[in-house]
Amino acid sequence: MNKHKLHVLYVSLLAMVLLIVSFGPAFSAFAEEVTPPPKKTLVMGTSPDFPPYESVDAKNNGEIIGLDIDIAKYILNELGYELKIASMDFGGLIAAMQSGRVDFIMSGMSATEERKKSVDFSDPYYFARNTIVSKKDSNYNSIESLSGKIIGAQLGSVQEAVAYSVEDAAEVRKLNKIADLIQEINSNRVDAAIVEDAVAVEMTNANGQLVMNFLPAEENDNGYAIAFPKGSPYVAEFNAVIAQMQENGKLDELLLKWFPDANATTAGNNKFIDFSVLEGYVPYIMKGVGVTLLFTLVSAVLGFILGSILSLCKISGIKPLEWFATAYTSIFRGTPLLVQLMLIYYATPQLTGYDIPALLAAGLAFGLNSAAYLSETIRAGIMAVDKGQREAAIALGIPYRKMMISIIFPQALRNILPALVNECVALIKESSLVSVIGVTDLMRRADFVRASTFRSFEVLLLIAAIYYVLVLVLTSLARMLERRLRRSD
Ligand code: ARG
Repeated sequence: MNKHKLHVLYVSLLAMVLLIVSFGPAFSAFAEEVTPPPKKTLVMGTSPDFPPYESVDAKNNGEIIGLDIDIAKYILNELGYELKIASMDFGGLIAAMQSGRVDFIMSGMSATEERKKSVDFSDPYYFARNTIVSKKDSNYNSIESLSGKIIGAQLGSVQEAVAYSVEDAAEVRKLNKIADLIQEINSNRVDAAIVEDAVAVEMTNANGQLVMNFLPAEENDNGYAIAFPKGSPYVAEFNAVIAQMQENGKLDELLLKWFPDANATTAGNNKFIDFSVLEGYVPYIMKGVGVTLLFTLVSAVLGFILGSILSLCKISGIKPLEWFATAYTSIFRGTPLLVQLMLIYYATPQLTGYDIPALLAAGLAFGLNSAAYLSETIRAGIMAVDKGQREAAIALGIPYRKMMISIIFPQALRNILPALVNECVALIKESSLVSVIGVTDLMRRADFVRASTFRSFEVLLLIAAIYYVLVLVLTSLARMLERRLRRSD
């Protein structure tokens, strides 16, 4: 490789490092990251899809609120600790605690024998009853009445086991979110779901076509409790405060605050689509636009720089570089983006000890992936620049780097502009994947609103419209740019 080519490589690499370093802080501002807590701060893991126990207060500031949160605040305040909340799917909570990302779990979690094998529980602070939620016309009222039916439950919850206890159920369908269960009942893909009392009340209030029926209290119910890592010294401390709360009436006071009218069934919203349920939630959702755009921008820039370097490698004529670039493209194009995303997010802390913020992991995954595609596009663009340009530059004694930067690249770029825009459009839309690792982008915000409103359609339609407008704006900007470039010919 000659000196000039090396130069181009170095400069691009440097630019990339600078980019990552400078965007790092911006990333963490938006991600629900879990940084190692300073002294006396305890991180609580919760799955805020379970009002009134825990949900995102999307109407106000997007904070997580609920009965569990109030209890946790009271206990930690008594004990002199600072509370920090990390939100994740219910099914991932115990694993997060085992890997040290959270110190304790409060998430309406039942203290089951099964779970006691891997965690220690506090004393119970609440006893919930299970209910069957179904459409009005079916109205299942006992476990027996469910035989032969398709039964839904939240993945990893004790309701799974209740669903399995139905003799010859047609199927037990496990879904990540409570909101998904409602949607599946509404579309008749699930006949009935097993849901806990207070949650079921809110669910049926928000959806007039659903009803709930209580199941008998379970004999060996250990109630809701706080989970800690095995052998944790906190259990005793927490238990003391729970006992104190039971005595001084604080617990009852909080229960009353969060279940003011558990028995008052409101009329129930019977409308199929009712956009008024979104009232108050729109500003919270709109904040996701910034996250989505920032994330798209960073991954597009990273993808472009890295893609350019790879394309240079591919045309360098230097075998090892060519091999590397080809293998890179083949791997990143040949495996699903979602898998890459989860690998980077979950493997990085395990391999390096660095607790990578979700948004940084997402930017990296998307940037690296996009680079694979762009390297091909850019290579084609460079190859398509008329040979004469290169020959003339060489004849005039223009150095390689200068020739590439000011003669070949600009022409190549103009040729591939439409392809670049395509890539950006794809990035904007695919960015919705990042919600799975907890980046609060548009999609994840929609998830939280679905959980709080117990309705799905309205908010999904809203964010679909937002994505569409974003893409429209981007494509018309690109068209303007293209027109200008053509004029300057
Ligand atoms: N009580 C049930 C359990 O422990 C369900 C809890 C679900 N909690 C939640 N935040 N989604 O399995």
